[in-house]
Amino acid sequence: MAAAARGLAEGGLVAFPTETVYGLGADATNPKAIARLYRAKGRPAFNPLIAHVGDLAAARRIADFDATAMALAEAFWPGPLTLVLPRSADCAVAELATAGLDTIAVRVPAHPVALAILRAFGGPVVAPSANLSGHVSPTTAAHVQGDLAGRIDLIVDGGPVTVGVESTIVGCFEVPMLLRPGGLPRDDIERVLGRALLHPRQDPGADSGQPLAPGMLASHYAPRTRVRLNAGSVEPGEALLAFGPAALPGVESAAAVMNLSARSNVDEAAANLFGYLRTLDRSGARAIAVMPVPHHGLGEAINDRLRRAAVGRD
Ligand code: TXA
Ligand code: MG
Repeated sequence: MAAAARGLAEGGLVAFPTETVYGLGADATNPKAIARLYRAKGRPAFNPLIAHVGDLAAARRIADFDATAMALAEAFWPGPLTLVLPRSADCAVAELATAGLDTIAVRVPAHPVALAILRAFGGPVVAPSANLSGHVSPTTAAHVQGDLAGRIDLIVDGGPVTVGVESTIVGCFEVPMLLRPGGLPRDDIERVLGRALLHPRQDPGADSGQPLAPGMLASHYAPRTRVRLNAGSVEPGEALLAFGPAALPGVESAAAVMNLSARSNVDEAAANLFGYLRTLDRSGARAIAVMPVPHHGLGEAINDRLRRAAVGRD
């Protein structure tokens, strides 16, 4: 942890576990380190980063919290929730990290290793998921190593993550909006808000064509192998990403089979999702057939990531 904090202070790139996925951290106030971070990931520089802090007090130094934001932070931090808020007047986070926006994405992760590093370092740490841009997010240190070895300075291995999908992102605008479904189910958030979260598309006042979560590019999270959703059977040469106890026709000749949750539990499925996609991507199958996953709870985030994985890439 001390080495990680030192590495960050020296402008280094340090991968560390959070409860959602592994992050690739850099000092949020150091534009040089952030430029290196974008380069290491091969990430388009217009895609802004999440600032990670150790507690609400540290978050309030970089962002302006209204009553809604306070209620959400108090209910769910530390936890798998990112809030998009106005940058505070004296926000020390480099413009490069927020891609010139006047808002900033902030979260307090619920992982003892992440919190220990953030507290030892003392300042905000920007951390995208620790994968090459466009790849599946890493849920183990080995995934990080596979994507980024030689491009970054340190990987802190905290074992496999517990949640398995990225944080839920809520934009605290005039009306709170769900910018990215993720590791905190929508229902939990709506219960605290006492109202429904709007989707950016549903906001009649939203600027047309201006993406509110610029990182939600259609082809994010994609394995190299083609992904076929809502499979009712396995075609010759396909691998199967299963969900639940049912056996599909053709499964006996599948190139590979992995079951997200044989007992149909969406939390278990979220934790397994990215690791299983990586494994099936390496199986040599001509496509990955995916069984339907229910939409409740973390199912919303799982289906979002699967939809993105299924979008064609060049
Ligand atoms: O669980 C997570 O959120 C992980 C861990 C490491 O914390 N991080 C993560 O970061 O998923 P990343 O960079 O892969 O995704 C951050 C998303 C991007 O889609 C980005 O466009 C969006 O947050 N974002 C960042 N700042 C924003 C802002 N000011 N307004 C709207 N969206 C923003
Ligand atoms: Mg990512």
